[in-house]
Amino acid sequence: MTSLEQTDTADLTARRFERMRPFGGEPGPTVDSTGLPPGPHWPVWMQSVGLLRFRHRFVPHMWRRYGDVFTVRIVPGGRPLVLFTRPEHAKEIFAGDPEVFHAGKGNAILGPIMGEHSLLLQDGAEHKRARALLMPAFNGQALRGYRGLVEEVARDEVARWRPGEEFRSLDRMNALTLEVILRVVFGVTDESRLARLRPCVNRTVNVSPAVLLGWGYPQLQRFGPWKRTVENAYRLDELIYAEIRERRRAADLTDRSDVLSRLILAGTDGDRLTDEELRDQLVTLLLAGHETTATALAWALYELGSDPSQLARAREAARQGDDAYLEAVLKESMRLHPVIPMVVRTLMKPVTVAGWHLPAGATVGPSILVNHARADSHPDPERFDPERFVGQSPPVNSWIPFGGGVRRCIGAGFSLMEGAAVLREVLTTYAVTATGPDVPKVRNITSVPRRGARVRVG
Ligand code: HEM
Repeated sequence: MTSLEQTDTADLTARRFERMRPFGGEPGPTVDSTGLPPGPHWPVWMQSVGLLRFRHRFVPHMWRRYGDVFTVRIVPGGRPLVLFTRPEHAKEIFAGDPEVFHAGKGNAILGPIMGEHSLLLQDGAEHKRARALLMPAFNGQALRGYRGLVEEVARDEVARWRPGEEFRSLDRMNALTLEVILRVVFGVTDESRLARLRPCVNRTVNVSPAVLLGWGYPQLQRFGPWKRTVENAYRLDELIYAEIRERRRAADLTDRSDVLSRLILAGTDGDRLTDEELRDQLVTLLLAGHETTATALAWALYELGSDPSQLARAREAARQGDDAYLEAVLKESMRLHPVIPMVVRTLMKPVTVAGWHLPAGATVGPSILVNHARADSHPDPERFDPERFVGQSPPVNSWIPFGGGVRRCIGAGFSLMEGAAVLREVLTTYAVTATGPDVPKVRNITSVPRRGARVRVG
């Protein structure tokens, strides 16, 4: 890379930080809170801590106490978050007009890392355009193209395990899904570049909310974790932009099947993704697609490892190449242990949801956690039972781990394909045994197994 290009890249990074500061963009409309659904009268900080740190107990408690629709008040300023828990509520929210039900606002804290073009941060016409450009890279035909490489990465990972070894399956699955993102999504195969990318990507994924919250204060960026995050962001951008620029010139661009190459070619002349847009979408895919899939897989191994008869059934399916059953295992793991506990939309106008008249500025969302735990949708909801998804599906909108509507997870099919390939590789090679109980713990936006879903393979 020439020094001119390096300066270029650093400029792009600096300009992004400038634009995305302070996080959150314009303030939302002021909220008229009269007539909202019931909720606790606790201090706002206490409700915020309940929701952010203890959601697995707090949200079901609110549901039992206040019923199917309730309001929680959170920082900043005690703004209302109205949570809905029935499938028909989820349907109404997902079908809401995207010009009124904005999703990007809720993700604004991720702005400095993901960038303003990120699919997760956009709303309205911009979101529609970006989504149309990205979707073809995740359709059925594209997924079939990624499969071979995913299988190869899974095989390499499992080949490093030793019979009798015990480990945190979450850590192993994180390493595996990171490799999948780098090779299948970024399309990087050069070992020396992979070696430089891995630590930068890991540091990006591990950035804490405290660091993100500090982004509004530029002076902090001279110190400790903020300084390291900024330095890392410059390094990561430099590597990603180098990759993008080289790929644009690659002689075999049209023959390549990785996501980046497809995104470079997406659209028509005059409407293609720019370097900055490509960078933002790549970082988004990295952050949205890596730990989520790893967590679903770790829970799946933990559940199979806790029940010898379920394990035997799944190993048989793996030997037969029955991917539909392996997908059912993953779907049931995501039902019982939702990776993301809720999805939210901010209302740009007053609307009525489930008969409640809600003001502009309120945030609304289906609680995935409660929807998945309802006995009227999922009989015996505490039981792990992949058969719920074999030859049948739970009632519409009662299983929503990937959200819904125009914002439904773009990587849903990808993660199921990847998950089934990984389970097939693991289960044809090893039996797994969970080595102790585990429970969910909050990690930033996702919920992960507290003890890392420890298993022994043999
Ligand atoms: C088990 C794995 C995964 C889970 C549980 C998950 C969950 C979700 C959820 C709940 C949303 C928000 C949907 C909404 O607001 O209605 C979402 C959005 C998104 N996910 Fe995933 N995801 C997973 C894997 C992936 C993968 C593998 C990728 C990409 C490689 C990905 C990329 C995205 C993107 C780009 C969005 C934003 C979509 C938009 O706003 O239009 N996710 N995901």
